[in-house]
Amino acid sequence: MERTMSDDAPRRVVVDTDTAGDDAQAILMAVLSDRLDVDGLTIVAGNVEFDYEVENAKYALDLAGAAGDVPVHEGARSPLLKDHEHADYVHGEGGLGGDLFPDTGIPSADEHAVDYILRTVREDPGEVSLLCIGPLTNVAMALQREPDLNDYVDEVWAMGGAVHAPGNVTPAAEFNFWVDPDAAKLVLRELDVTLVDWGLSLSASVIDGEAFDRFADADTPYADFVRTISEPVREFTREEQGIDGATQPDSLTVALAMAPELRESVGTYHADVDEREGLTRGHSVVDTTGVTDRPARTRVVEAADAALFEEMFAGMVEAGDPERPL
Ligand code: BDR
Ligand code: CA
Repeated sequence: MERTMSDDAPRRVVVDTDTAGDDAQAILMAVLSDRLDVDGLTIVAGNVEFDYEVENAKYALDLAGAAGDVPVHEGARSPLLKDHEHADYVHGEGGLGGDLFPDTGIPSADEHAVDYILRTVREDPGEVSLLCIGPLTNVAMALQREPDLNDYVDEVWAMGGAVHAPGNVTPAAEFNFWVDPDAAKLVLRELDVTLVDWGLSLSASVIDGEAFDRFADADTPYADFVRTISEPVREFTREEQGIDGATQPDSLTVALAMAPELRESVGTYHADVDEREGLTRGHSVVDTTGVTDRPARTRVVEAADAALFEEMFAGMVEAGDPERPL
């Protein structure tokens, strides 16, 4: 549904997150952005133990001074159908580097994430976008309750899939789609999604070691936080990808949603997900050549301005202002 408000007004968003380190940085980017108005966070099973995710999300909000304004709604504690495995090996125990275990004392909102998403989009049809940076379980559950969800939301952005690259959990699959492929399949079938995949994350979201070292000098609460939580991901990226740096797929997704200036190429295709157990579980199948003749409704961001993204990230860390370079 088209938005009725002025395009200059901040875009109202719900951030759906499985909060480990890169999600926490994406939350910071969203709440520190003047272009986005974060209505609430919804937490979904994914990166680390659910209760850690909830606390990590609250900690990120608190760091940005937004804990009083942005409610945290707890959602699905497991995927729709599959058994669940966490990814502590990427983000460190607890999800924030392995040494930081927040205990904020901030209460969660009473309403379940799925009820909250449905109420929010129904109250203001076409006004609220979903920024999904975890497995798509909460969104799929909302769809199961409201098959016309696509008519109620503004935009749906999702970090997931491996369209132009091998996966990061298996050669076939990226983590978010692999964790809950049944949810990803349903969401791609029923909603107009803009996808930020693992391939784009590798080409446009890596913050390199030098940049991290520059952040070390910044006198902001964000600089310390980003350095601390990124150490294990940096180590993992060094081992797995041979790069000194850390991928920031979730921050890139938020940045792309808020800044059209970042988008260099976007294609619209038919897309599906393999939900079966086995070698190709979670594989994103994207018909880039149109051989299937199936309706093309999934927008895939295929190229983004990596240098501008790094500047936005630097603005966030050094000045609490991701829009500094825009
Ligand atoms: C995605 O999986 C998670 O580990 C990250 O938070 C990101 O959302 C990358 O595959
Ligand atoms: Ca995530």
